[in-house]
Amino acid sequence: MPTNPSVVIVSGASRGVGAATARWLAKAGAAVALIARSADALETVASEVQQLGGVSLVYKADVSDAGACRAAVARTLERFGRLDAVVNNAGMVEPLAPVGDSDTDRWQYNIAVNLLGPFYLIRAAIAELRRQGGRIVNVSSGAATKSVENASAYCAAKAALNHFSRVLAAEEPRVTVMAVRPGVVDTRMQDTIRQKGRGVMSDGQLAYYQNLKERGQLEKPEVPGRSLAWLALHGPREFSGQFLDYDDPRISQPALEVFGEKLE
Ligand SMILES: NC(=O)c1ccc[n+]([C@@H]2O[C@H](COP(=O)([O-])OP(=O)(O)OC[C@H]3O[C@@H](n4cnc5c(N)ncnc54)[C@H](OP(=O)(O)O)[C@@H]3O)[C@@H](O)[C@H]2O)c1
Repeated sequence: MPTNPSVVIVSGASRGVGAATARWLAKAGAAVALIARSADALETVASEVQQLGGVSLVYKADVSDAGACRAAVARTLERFGRLDAVVNNAGMVEPLAPVGDSDTDRWQYNIAVNLLGPFYLIRAAIAELRRQGGRIVNVSSGAATKSVENASAYCAAKAALNHFSRVLAAEEPRVTVMAVRPGVVDTRMQDTIRQKGRGVMSDGQLAYYQNLKERGQLEKPEVPGRSLAWLALHGPREFSGQFLDYDDPRISQPALEVFGEKLE
């Protein structure tokens, strides 16, 4: 491990894309602050980080809580003495319902997690990120630009996250701010769509998601995770303000060269 490792906060690090990102960061020698609501799952990821030679901090928090986000950043600075990047990956797709049937509290919670959570963590971290000339990776979605029926809160939150990232990039010349589409990934979020979409989505929409799984067309979390980890540590200044694809060769190729093929 380098003497002064980069320190990266990863939200939504308890499984899926966030856990994979944290493992790649650990392999690269970064110190990782792992944030999510599920403490046990975070501890499992922390053990994997340790096995890869990395160090981590587990912080149980709901990113919809501004105070918890502030405390998570403060604890990270207290433990590691610096902060170089924030990967805002925590996210949820529900409620899955047409706008006309949506539960207003659940709609609001989606926005709180997918949009306010990144704002809260960034608000708490920005002074230190400025100091370090740091990076912000906001995990967005194709749903930011496409209409996905029955996922209006998710689409609206991710579209807003993209534009928030552009504005922040314009405001913060010392910080590199990127929004990234991680692809369609084989995680619990896709399980949720296949299960909870039943009876809500049209047969065609549901079949689209079921076929992706059955035909093995979902991406493994390690693939976008490697791109996100590379962007957190090495994302170039000229990417600031952009909405990027995880498989853009300007990202995926150097990520493969720096991190290697396998997480071991
Ligand atoms: N899977 C896809 O096809 C896909 C496509 C496009 C974009 N994305 C984006 O990729 C990111 C990761 O998703 P994933 O596919 O890895 O889904 P996932 O397996 O469901 O993981 C979501 C992560 O976010 C955390 N999380 C959810 N709500 C939270 C909250 N209120 N506070 C703190 N943490 C919270 C979860 O942990 P806890 O439950 O322990 O809190 C978990 O670690 C999300 O931003 C998602 O929108 C995914």
